[in-house]
Amino acid sequence: MKVLVVGGGGREHAICWKIAQSSRVDKIYCAPGNAGIASVAECVPIGAMEFDKLVAFAKEKAIDLTVVGMDDPLVGGIVDAFQAEGLKVFGPEKKAAILEGSKAFSKELMKKYNIPTAAYETFDNPEAALAYLETAPMPVVLKADGLALGKGVLICQNLEEARAGVKTLMLDKQFGSAGDRIVVEEFMTGREVSVLSFVDGKTIRIMTSAQDHKRAKDGDQGLNTGGMGTFSPSPFYTKEVDEFCRRYIYQATVDAMAAEGRAFKGVIFFGLMLTGNGPKVLEYNARFGDPETQVVLPRMKNDIMDVFEACVEGTLDKIDLEFEDNAAVCVVLASDGYPEHYEKGFEIRGLENFEGSPDRFVFHAGSKFAEGKIVTNGGRVLGVTALGKDLKEARANAYAATELIDFDNKYKRNDIGKAIDEA
Ligand code: AMP
Ligand code: GLY
Repeated sequence: MKVLVVGGGGREHAICWKIAQSSRVDKIYCAPGNAGIASVAECVPIGAMEFDKLVAFAKEKAIDLTVVGMDDPLVGGIVDAFQAEGLKVFGPEKKAAILEGSKAFSKELMKKYNIPTAAYETFDNPEAALAYLETAPMPVVLKADGLALGKGVLICQNLEEARAGVKTLMLDKQFGSAGDRIVVEEFMTGREVSVLSFVDGKTIRIMTSAQDHKRAKDGDQGLNTGGMGTFSPSPFYTKEVDEFCRRYIYQATVDAMAAEGRAFKGVIFFGLMLTGNGPKVLEYNARFGDPETQVVLPRMKNDIMDVFEACVEGTLDKIDLEFEDNAAVCVVLASDGYPEHYEKGFEIRGLENFEGSPDRFVFHAGSKFAEGKIVTNGGRVLGVTALGKDLKEARANAYAATELIDFDNKYKRNDIGKAIDEA
């Protein structure tokens, strides 16, 4: 089979790497890819939003299946564009990707179908939002309705911050039209867990759990980022939590989407908060998580092509997902200054230390070739993943592995997986 993967970050590297292990795959292309992805796939210089070019490429190369990793093209309707040309593609159609594309939509869905989530109100008028906030309990959470690179969420401690937040999102339009409408949400406390799943429109299969670290600095300080590291499984995702979520959240979401005429095929990422009143949905994403994928897929036993095809064909009920009884930790190596100002273009040294290793992997997020070398090309540069028999061993292995890599301005958090010690 020939496969095309759309995207060019650490998540897509992990997806390509997993696809490459399938005995059924002869050739992988990745658009646009990156310098790390180039070790497992042929990179094609087409952007993820260039649907016409991607469709033409898939036809020209007789691609058997296209897998879309990123949210923007999914929310923009890439799956519909491929389907319109009779091409097989893994991911939700535009009308289903709205589950991630509009927070107002997903909140309404949860309310309508009694799926546990934080209480909320939706506003498309800043005056009405400000009036509501006058008497709202603090802290309060403001969310831009649309896609905002994971940065359109503001946690406001008091009324003053909440007023400033409305200004940022709705008046200054810091996230563009994503802030035309906002969701004002009850602030919840608890542990966060990421749960990825495969869905074929009606059946859902849950992958192993993971936890992300979104803030830039140790101790969950600093700005929100795309994710600075992950571990899997989450020790807080107990059997009881799993049972609760299976009963009230996972299948309920799939059934709700089908009932709305928006049958979801692809990956649903459940961002959960384990509150004192049980698990609640923080957010849905319509795709694999980044960097959750970098710890989940290395633990998956299945041939991922079987699972992708079952989702597309509606036969996921025939598949049992299996995961190794081990653990994985991913530490992101970033450029110092990320997520604000940082330099790039520095040579990355030590990548050869990972070649052929069965238990440590380096997934490239922002790298490129320059003059025969691989250089840094983004805020998040690499995700260094290591396996271990348990979380502590995996963490020790991952941090040891980060020492094998060197580049100027290398920055990492030193407390990825600290929560393991509290479990
Ligand atoms: P989201 O993009 O919706 O996942 O929000 C980003 C982050 O903001 C989450 O991972 C949480 O850490 C935090 N967050 C979002 N909603 C809430 C909430 N209702 N209560 C507390 N924290 C939240
Ligand atoms: N790691 C969070 C996300 O992929 O949105």
